[in-house]
Amino acid sequence: MKKIVIDPITRIEGHLRVEVEVDEEGVVQEAYASGQLFRGIEIILKNRDPRDAGLLAGRICGVCTNSHFRAAISSVEDAYDIKPPDNARIIRDLMAMALFIQDHVVHFYHLHSLDFVDVTSALKADAALTSLQALKYSKNPYRNSATHYTEVLAKLQNFVKAGKLGPFANGYWGHSAYKLTPEQNLIIISHYLEALKFQTNISKAVAIFGGKTPHPQSIVVGGVTSVADMLNPQRLNDYIFSIKEAKEFVERAYLSDMKLLATAYRNEIKEGLGRANGNFLAVGGYAFDEEQKLFSSGVIYGHDFSKIEEFDESKISEEIDRAWYSGDSIDNEICYTDLNEDGTLKTAKSSDKYSWIKAPRYDAKSMESGPLARVLVSYLKGNKLIKPFVDEFLQDTNLELMDLSSTVGRNAARAIESLYVCEYIFKLVSRLLQNIKYYNTDTWTKYDFEKLPKSAKGRAFFEVPRGVLSHHISIKEQKIQNYSVIAPTTWNASPKDKEGKRGAYEEALLGIKIQDVTKPLEVLRVIHSFDPCLACAVHVIETKGKELGMYKIKTL
Ligand code: NI
Repeated sequence: MKKIVIDPITRIEGHLRVEVEVDEEGVVQEAYASGQLFRGIEIILKNRDPRDAGLLAGRICGVCTNSHFRAAISSVEDAYDIKPPDNARIIRDLMAMALFIQDHVVHFYHLHSLDFVDVTSALKADAALTSLQALKYSKNPYRNSATHYTEVLAKLQNFVKAGKLGPFANGYWGHSAYKLTPEQNLIIISHYLEALKFQTNISKAVAIFGGKTPHPQSIVVGGVTSVADMLNPQRLNDYIFSIKEAKEFVERAYLSDMKLLATAYRNEIKEGLGRANGNFLAVGGYAFDEEQKLFSSGVIYGHDFSKIEEFDESKISEEIDRAWYSGDSIDNEICYTDLNEDGTLKTAKSSDKYSWIKAPRYDAKSMESGPLARVLVSYLKGNKLIKPFVDEFLQDTNLELMDLSSTVGRNAARAIESLYVCEYIFKLVSRLLQNIKYYNTDTWTKYDFEKLPKSAKGRAFFEVPRGVLSHHISIKEQKIQNYSVIAPTTWNASPKDKEGKRGAYEEALLGIKIQDVTKPLEVLRVIHSFDPCLACAVHVIETKGKELGMYKIKTL
């Protein structure tokens, strides 16, 4: 048995280490995912005014700032039973939806695409042939002239002439796991460069109501402060324009690139490469009228698509048996023991602790959350809105629903979801306009802080780009007594629990064949497909076994 350690895994947010054990054939037999960065934002939140929770919790991550900001404020509102007005909810949703699109596109092109695309092969592409080939995956491909591809080729050649590949340096170029033709490689590289401009544009949409990322300021307990933006038709128009532009790119570049990948990597999909244990968790959300929600909630166990259980938050627990925590108080709970005396990593023994990430479990099972979970749960629960988007993708690629549970499928789910979100964002905008038209311009629910209960507990669950996010707050004497976060990456990148059950990353790596142990491209593909955010994932907890609402923390 040979061990391969990748530390750090790059092109992700934060610091992740992955260790795999491979047999003589190079097939992964065991895996350990380790969050390598201690954070501790919850400690900073203690004894603060609950109204400041949003601004402080937003600092958990520079990428997912908006998600934490909103979840923190919502958990305080839940504790005090304050209901923000419809307009405030819509504005928060509009910011969140724009973030979905931004996050997904940036993730694929800038953090993940080079696991599938060989830049050096693209240099051999024929520009005219590339333009023809792109038509196989889209009726109207994005920037598809031969002249444009010639320009992209010239850019790439300039990098090479300068003796470096710039943003494309240090790839495993020429690896036999790369399957695209030079022309297919060039199509995606062209979109990689276009996506750099895309992310500037879509960030403006978030900024219109939220202020510049990563310092949003407009969400407050009880509502939002962006009243003037809401009532200014030009601001709403700017928002709509940004989303329309984004939709063009998502439809004509991102989604068609997924069809390209699904065709070229069909064998890997059919073999189920990168599939985890088939347990999926989605909490749903984003209602745009009284009846319909963008995402449905539900739980799938072991790929049993015939039975979708209802989500029940009381089934969530967290374990720290294999994480660097111990003891029963916040002061002595850190227990960092990374190396054995001989310098090898402490992972193998069932008592070894190996990550700063805790192990959240649902009904004692490890779960995958994220776009794949959302798409599967929504589709299988008969969410009529998402169904045509999924059906069209499966039809165009001649795949089945089960095939989405794979490395490439996880990406496809993200692209399907992006287009779907672009489509329905406009309904939310219409609802906002409708409210304004009928003189409903409330953006804040008035309350007197001094008269609110002195002690309260609250929580908020949201679907955010990477999966299920929950914030849990306990307030005493008008101060934050305890705070806890379970981020999407906490679910997906969790270490083993005391029964040895692996987290989703670890499950997904099992059985992967690594062709060259010095260039473990196959491992990167699987891990990147989850869109890891390690900055978000690590959180300390109060391990006294206190109950924070319905959220139970398990002690050793
Ligand atoms: Ni994050």
